[in-house]
Amino acid sequence: MAKSAPLPGTSDIFPGEVGAWRFLEETARGVFNCYNYGELRTPIFEATEVFQRGLGDETEVVQKEMYTFEDRGGRSVTLRPEGTAGVMRALLNTDVLNGVEQRVFYIGPMFRGERPAAGRRRQFHQIGAENVGRIAPELDAEAIAMLLGLLEKLGISGSTLKLNTRGVAADRPAAAAALKEYFSKHIDILCEDCRKRLQGNVWRILDCKVESCREIIANVPDYAGMFSAESREYFQKVCRHLDWLGIKYEIDPFLVRGLDYYVHTVFEITHPGLGAQNAIAGGGRYELLLPGESKPVIGVGFAAGMERLLMVREALNLPANGDMEENRCVFVAALGEAAEEFKVKFTAELRNQGIAAAAEIAGKSLKAQMRAANRVNAACAVIVGEEELAGNTAVLRDLTGGEQKQVALNELIGEIKKLINKQ
Ligand code: HAM
Repeated sequence: MAKSAPLPGTSDIFPGEVGAWRFLEETARGVFNCYNYGELRTPIFEATEVFQRGLGDETEVVQKEMYTFEDRGGRSVTLRPEGTAGVMRALLNTDVLNGVEQRVFYIGPMFRGERPAAGRRRQFHQIGAENVGRIAPELDAEAIAMLLGLLEKLGISGSTLKLNTRGVAADRPAAAAALKEYFSKHIDILCEDCRKRLQGNVWRILDCKVESCREIIANVPDYAGMFSAESREYFQKVCRHLDWLGIKYEIDPFLVRGLDYYVHTVFEITHPGLGAQNAIAGGGRYELLLPGESKPVIGVGFAAGMERLLMVREALNLPANGDMEENRCVFVAALGEAAEEFKVKFTAELRNQGIAAAAEIAGKSLKAQMRAANRVNAACAVIVGEEELAGNTAVLRDLTGGEQKQVALNELIGEIKKLINKQ
């Protein structure tokens, strides 16, 4: 590993790339605002039990992927592998357990010790949203509509919405027994992991990617048909609301999602522009139990992977920064001692007026200064030498068009503003 490389599965995001991230963040804030969601910022690490209880001991994330360490005082803490559990912990401070709705969103880094690959990072970033405290099919449909609204505003077309129901806890034993019975008959064809899953969490077999397993999975019994009438009706209502909203979806009985807190509706958005890790976003309705609580927090929500959103936008040839304007600066070039003083003062003046400005350090040739202007992609350059200063003027050069003119110093800022606004 080169000395300058960050750890595997992590990345540095350089200033030139940050615009693309800010575009995602600002677009999400705009969309979520229209649905009355407020931003919640929770800590990057939590007590380990928050995730163990919240996501379920049996989930792969909890079993294999958490960054867990001992904090001062011997407390076990974990870098958040996802946002939902921490958000629920924070919302215990509100009235969500008494059915008072909270709408929150979050943007930030998550950590999973996965094997790094294209689109699979150890530190990755999510934009997520949670509607917490109440249960109703229309809220599930609305969360999906909001996610799709975000993708549309990001210019991401061609994605597929997959939808399924997980029923509720009481629905599962009978359905799981039917699945177990079915898979047991094909145990000799199942991969080693699935054989283990047959003893533990049989649902996880449904999203196994191994080819031979897929053939068996394709013919599983209709387990959702065994769920209670209420659960089936709940799912039908979600579908009906999506129909009302004109949202296209594929019902995918193999979609179970990796986290154990889901009940009823689960969904995932995939995009062909991504490789093997083709999920841009996933979510669903959940009942999440936190340590020391006897009642789960209920809600519906989703999270989209920001790295994957950027990959899809790149695959679709969309401009990295979206429609956000690049902040091009004014370059102040000086020749000679007296001009140096002007340069320092005028650069400060521009910045005080909210205009981005740049300059070279003293003593460089005009050529070197213009090279520096190029490097910072300046919109225009102000050039002053002894002669200009004596006449109370400066040269203003448009670095896009190439024209230049002599401008009186007292008109300089006005002329610069005109030029920048024109560009
Ligand atoms: P998740 O499906 O585990 O769900 O993650 C959501 C999204 O985060 C994925 O679709 C993917 O785009 C991105 N993602 C996950 N792991 C990685 C990784 N290692 N590298 C890059 N991107 C990744 C959750 O996290 C749930 N908390 C979503 C949720 C919110 N459900 C209800 N509310």
